[in-house]
Amino acid sequence: IFPDAADVSEAVATLIKKLVLEAAAQGQHCVLGLATGSTPKEMYRHLVRMHRDEELSFKHVITFNLDEYLGLKPGALQSYRRFMQVHLFDHIDILPENTHVPDGSLATDSPQISLRCNEYERLIADAGGIDLQLLGLGRTGHIGFNERGSSCESRTRRVALGEATRIDAAADFFGKEHVPRYAISMGAATILQARRIVLMAFGEGKAAAVAQAVEGPVTNQIAASFLQDHPSAALYVDLGAAAGLT
Ligand code: F6R
Repeated sequence: IFPDAADVSEAVATLIKKLVLEAAAQGQHCVLGLATGSTPKEMYRHLVRMHRDEELSFKHVITFNLDEYLGLKPGALQSYRRFMQVHLFDHIDILPENTHVPDGSLATDSPQISLRCNEYERLIADAGGIDLQLLGLGRTGHIGFNERGSSCESRTRRVALGEATRIDAAADFFGKEHVPRYAISMGAATILQARRIVLMAFGEGKAAAVAQAVEGPVTNQIAASFLQDHPSAALYVDLGAAAGLT
């Protein structure tokens, strides 16, 4: 628990820098699982600063994003691919071919979707698995877009977005009616396979979800509660998000 979000962002960026440097020193790739949304933005700003001012290189980093809205036009303003370009990839020396975000340009009912999802899983495996998976936390306790009812055995797949998630995204889409109904998301099992997991959450709006994830039962109603069974998962929260912990 840190005093505020700025402290969390700096601590997580410093942790990522350490992992990237350690992997480089061993001549290995560092494989990062990344999240979008408001929570990691400041942390990405630190990584960009570390690249610019501290010679942190991302040449040997491979990334896999958690999720992407489905049915978006390529380059759509709200796409998570665009988010990653704007907030991180365009400002560091990562090789474009080493950045992976699920393809959201398919039609929501395309038979190609499950093939692409299986391919995403294969790419993660081919990269040697994820060293560190970064997560945000939905108000309803989702990680990635694993909404209520997502099994702990779920893999990358098409998911239907819940009502609360669509309301939270409404501002980005200029109205809830424009928010996509489906997304592609890594599954809970995909996430749990990462060797290390860091979940960040800020503000009192996340306090109930944090408390349920940490102190509630492990249940498919709160996908973040699955992290309790992971050997190396840590929550990095500010005082507001920690407010519901006993
Ligand atoms: C984003 C993602 C989501 C968000 C979560 C919190 O890639 O997978 O689970 O992390 O919805 O979003 P923010 O950070 O905007 O509160």
